[in-house]
Amino acid sequence: MKETFTLWWDEALPGIRYIDQTLLPAEYAIAGCTNVDRLIAAIERLEIRGAPALGVAGGYGVALAAHTCPDSSSDGFVLAVRHEAGRIRESRPTAVNLSWGVDRVLARFLAAADAASARAAALAEAHAIAAEDTRCCHAIGDYGAALLPDRCTLLTHCNAGALACSSWGTALGVVRSAVEAGKTVKVIACETRPLLQGARLTAWELARDGIDVTVITDSTAAHIMRTGKIDAVIVGADRITGDAVFNKIGTYMHAVCARHHHIPFYVAAPLSTFDASRTEQEVTIEERGRGELAEIGNRTLIPDGVPVKNYAFDATPMNLVSAIITEQGIIRPPFDIGALLSRPAANRTP
Ligand code: MRU
Repeated sequence: MKETFTLWWDEALPGIRYIDQTLLPAEYAIAGCTNVDRLIAAIERLEIRGAPALGVAGGYGVALAAHTCPDSSSDGFVLAVRHEAGRIRESRPTAVNLSWGVDRVLARFLAAADAASARAAALAEAHAIAAEDTRCCHAIGDYGAALLPDRCTLLTHCNAGALACSSWGTALGVVRSAVEAGKTVKVIACETRPLLQGARLTAWELARDGIDVTVITDSTAAHIMRTGKIDAVIVGADRITGDAVFNKIGTYMHAVCARHHHIPFYVAAPLSTFDASRTEQEVTIEERGRGELAEIGNRTLIPDGVPVKNYAFDATPMNLVSAIITEQGIIRPPFDIGALLSRPAANRTP
């Protein structure tokens, strides 16, 4: 299967190139951004989206800040890059990978002796994050594929595919690896209201790879679980605390429904999505604008003056999760995220 990269550093710009995900599936276009303001707009508009991809974008964003901030005085240079890093970090609050990527590259930047080596170190670290993400997704894919029966139908929500990562994907990485291993996998993609990441992105990337995919409305999921057509639910994650998995709004209802129908509910995510430092109550769930619900193109769907609630994510309590598939192996209940992360990286095999 061909590896598709979602975002990368382009030395010729210099800056970040990425697939503009707001245009898919109608148009496949590569966009470029050469300053932090444009990167923040791209993140807020979901041109770049998905937790691991946000981690890569955050890393490259700090490298971009280091390349674009003038270094007239070394104090001013460091302060300016720190400031830009803070703005990138805050552009979306729920996916922990974004702040993780920003902080990892910022630490390398701050440790350098002078402006030139700080720029080089920031870019090298951002490249490392991107390459690691691809490796993690393949490892997640291989571990997850082994969990699946030889023939199965999986339900997924949102897009946890190549487009949400550097490449390959987490939940869809499991699908890709299973198909490569010779398994017959059908995917039911929930459309994922209101921005339709399932209908637009999951369907686009799986169809492109020749993987069997069917789109349903989000509200069809319970019906097909009840009628016995789903072998497992598999989703990605934006943040995994000790007590909950944060993912696209609607994930929780699939988890409840899967438990009711005795269907395994799997979460596929790299360790960079884990956050042992917070509990569910301490995580900010992003709320997005009214327009995403109230308008489609030029049409108004909700009467003027009627308020909306547009939560981008929800939290699924751990007791509904059957297993978490990571790059270091599969974690099963009881989940002890804190203990896992406190072990040295080389010794984290669950
Ligand atoms: O708002 P989005 O499109 O960034 O939300 C993305 C998701 O919820 C994904 O499921 C999650 O980031 C995991 S991606 C591997």
